[in-house]
Amino acid sequence: MDINTVFEGVYKIDKKLATKNAVPGFRVYDEELIKLKNSEYRLWNPYRSKLAAAIINGLSDLTIKKGSQVLYLGASTGTTVSHVSDIIENEGNVFAVEVSKRSMRDLLALCEKRENILPIFEDAMNTDSYSSEIGEVDVIYEDVAAPTQDKILVKNAELLKKGGSAYVAIKSQSIDVSRDPREVFEEFIKNVSHTFKVVQRVKIEPFDKLHLFLHLKKL
Ligand SMILES: C[S@@+](CC[C@H](N)C(=O)[O-])C[C@H]1O[C@@H](n2cnc3c(N)ncnc32)[C@H](O)[C@@H]1O
Repeated sequence: MDINTVFEGVYKIDKKLATKNAVPGFRVYDEELIKLKNSEYRLWNPYRSKLAAAIINGLSDLTIKKGSQVLYLGASTGTTVSHVSDIIENEGNVFAVEVSKRSMRDLLALCEKRENILPIFEDAMNTDSYSSEIGEVDVIYEDVAAPTQDKILVKNAELLKKGGSAYVAIKSQSIDVSRDPREVFEEFIKNVSHTFKVVQRVKIEPFDKLHLFLHLKKL
């Protein structure tokens, strides 16, 4: 089997994306586990994770690395969060904000196994309720699939260090089904442009349709 490093903590095993499993023997979703050179890896499914889709489709810089402090908005049951948890290792933390009780139940089970994931059961607009707990972070990841996604990002940017990255998955259908997706994406960028500059836009088809994945940097 061939293994190559794509980014720090992110690998390709026979052309399939993977992270090193922080909890050997345990799956988080239905991902395949592969043992190689005394380590266990989890294949990272781009149909289940927009970050994996963006990496496969040419994301050129991933600033999430060992020791990163990551604020993750829209954690759901923890599919992508778990791979972020693998990448940052025990030196980092992922603050996983999720508003749905149902998703939070599964996320809590994941946090039992992974100490670097800190769950926050909250609406991501209510930063006041978690800002003191997390301090300043290196990276924001946002995948809330909500019409107010731009406002949520700008609000949380108060917690991001200057020059810090934000990775954002925008689903045009969650913002306005009636409009041309390109218009929706441009408006999002305009609405956050006083706080962020665009580093890269990545299309994530065929893994997800009507999405745009953005790498932004805080001004
Ligand atoms: C598309 S899913 C996220 C999938 C996840 N990022 C992954 O890759 O595994 C969007 C999630 O955002 C959550 N969400 C929507 N609005 C939110 C808000 N205002 N605050 C926190 N979470 C929110 C939803 O409950 C849902 O679980």
